[in-house]
Amino acid sequence: MALPTRSRCDQTAVWRSLQEASVAGQRFDLRSAFAADPQRFQTFSQSAPHVFADLSKNLIDGATQTLLFELARQCGVLAHRDAMFAGEKINITEQRAVLHTLLRKPAKSHVSNNKYAINSEANELVEDLAQVHATLDAMLAFAETVRADGAITDVVNIGIGGSDLGPQMAVLALQEFVTPGKRFHFVSNVDGHELAAVLRQVQAHSTLFLIASKTFTTLETMTNAQSARRWFEAQGGTDTARHFAALTTNVAAANAFGITTTFGFWDWVGGRYSLWSAIGLPIAIAIGAAGFRDFLAGAHAMDEHFRSAPMQQNLPLRLGLLDVWYRNFVGFTSRSIAPYHSALKRLPAYLQQLEMESNGKRVDLQGRALPFGTAPVLWGEPGTNGQHAYFQMLHQGTDVVPVEFVVVKKPQHDLPGHHPRLLANALAQAQALMNGQADAGGHRDFPGNRPSTVLLLEELTPASLGALLALQEHRVFTSGSVWGIDSFDQWGVELGKVLARDIEPRLQSGDVAGLDGSTAGLLGRLRQR
Ligand code: F6P
Repeated sequence: MALPTRSRCDQTAVWRSLQEASVAGQRFDLRSAFAADPQRFQTFSQSAPHVFADLSKNLIDGATQTLLFELARQCGVLAHRDAMFAGEKINITEQRAVLHTLLRKPAKSHVSNNKYAINSEANELVEDLAQVHATLDAMLAFAETVRADGAITDVVNIGIGGSDLGPQMAVLALQEFVTPGKRFHFVSNVDGHELAAVLRQVQAHSTLFLIASKTFTTLETMTNAQSARRWFEAQGGTDTARHFAALTTNVAAANAFGITTTFGFWDWVGGRYSLWSAIGLPIAIAIGAAGFRDFLAGAHAMDEHFRSAPMQQNLPLRLGLLDVWYRNFVGFTSRSIAPYHSALKRLPAYLQQLEMESNGKRVDLQGRALPFGTAPVLWGEPGTNGQHAYFQMLHQGTDVVPVEFVVVKKPQHDLPGHHPRLLANALAQAQALMNGQADAGGHRDFPGNRPSTVLLLEELTPASLGALLALQEHRVFTSGSVWGIDSFDQWGVELGKVLARDIEPRLQSGDVAGLDGSTAGLLGRLRQR
């Protein structure tokens, strides 16, 4: 099936209307908007599976939102979404389908789903889904074996980017669901300090190394994997089959490395979308097979919401369009993410890859330079820590940064007093950003009218985390789709890899021929005794 033809956003009629709306919107004031509309909270909030979103403290009115829905329509976002779910090769620069949603699809649901049953791709998808579930079952059975194996006390995941950030973030986020008795370590950096620090804490006979790499060629992961194996052998370790497993699409390379326990996945799973695949094995070992299935089910519920909710009630779509509004019409260049739950400590790092590796692109699908901005800079720290670091700038700095609060209603501890204080602080920060403090004068003046979103979860569980992450994936899809870029490739990471390969031998030889003056100068200093 041919990909749907879509118009580039800046060439649609509604783009100009949005530009006009942004000029008028310069006078938009959140405080007046609430005063004028007692229903604003209701109108600008949205329930989705496991997530309630308050969008009302954003610099947007009903008319602008309607224009944004029209933009999505004119850019063919819904057809593009359907093409993704149908397994078409929407990652055009790599000629690959984008089917991480299939990884969380229940085994039997394709039968009742006509989108999966009407065209020739349908049969392939049915086969793919069968393979997905066979692999999932095998991986979860292995996870249960490891969980039951009291002799394994430490699990060391060696991977980087999508083969590290997702599992690391999720294992930490779900720490309350982790069965005691196992420690989890994540090694990503080629900087040997990281692996060395972990190896000091573990013993060969009680450690399982998971070598996680989609390609099984990534320099950092291969370097760490080789060092881990050398260390294992030097410690007298012999049973590699028991102590090493590989999570990869390149099973042949893992076998060549000497690893026989392997869990595969497919080229249609992007690295930053891979924690739902075999790359999620550390999560499954941590929370168990049932927990991992709940995690997938939460994400699937959000997939169904994204596929079927009308635009006006479609949370990922509304968030993605808000991102476009801020980036292209209001002129904001970043978004801060503030999880008010310390277990979500690594969420900002995970979302950085998701947003910035997906949408940090400067050309359209035909390779032409874009005349408008794409991915914002994403950054953040858990609350309340951020309040005592950079929130000063958010309240009184010269730049306005929309803040996305993630708030969890029910705590998983019983220490009295803490949770109400945490929640009060989240609400107070959002309130202070919006209301400011008028007429205090000079240094104590808070301008207010600074936007924020609150994403509210009942509780942090495997299912709600799954839904929250799928929500973020689909909002990134939405903005990338409007911008008409390939959100699923990552050519921008290649050049540095090539140059590092050239520089490494020069550190030995001292050869600076052909290098720029700065690199040559630094190389010289690094070689000085
Ligand atoms: O940084 C580029 C990248 O390809 C990411 O997209 C990916 O998540 C990471 O490297 C790791 O790749 P692999 O899983 O193949 O080792």
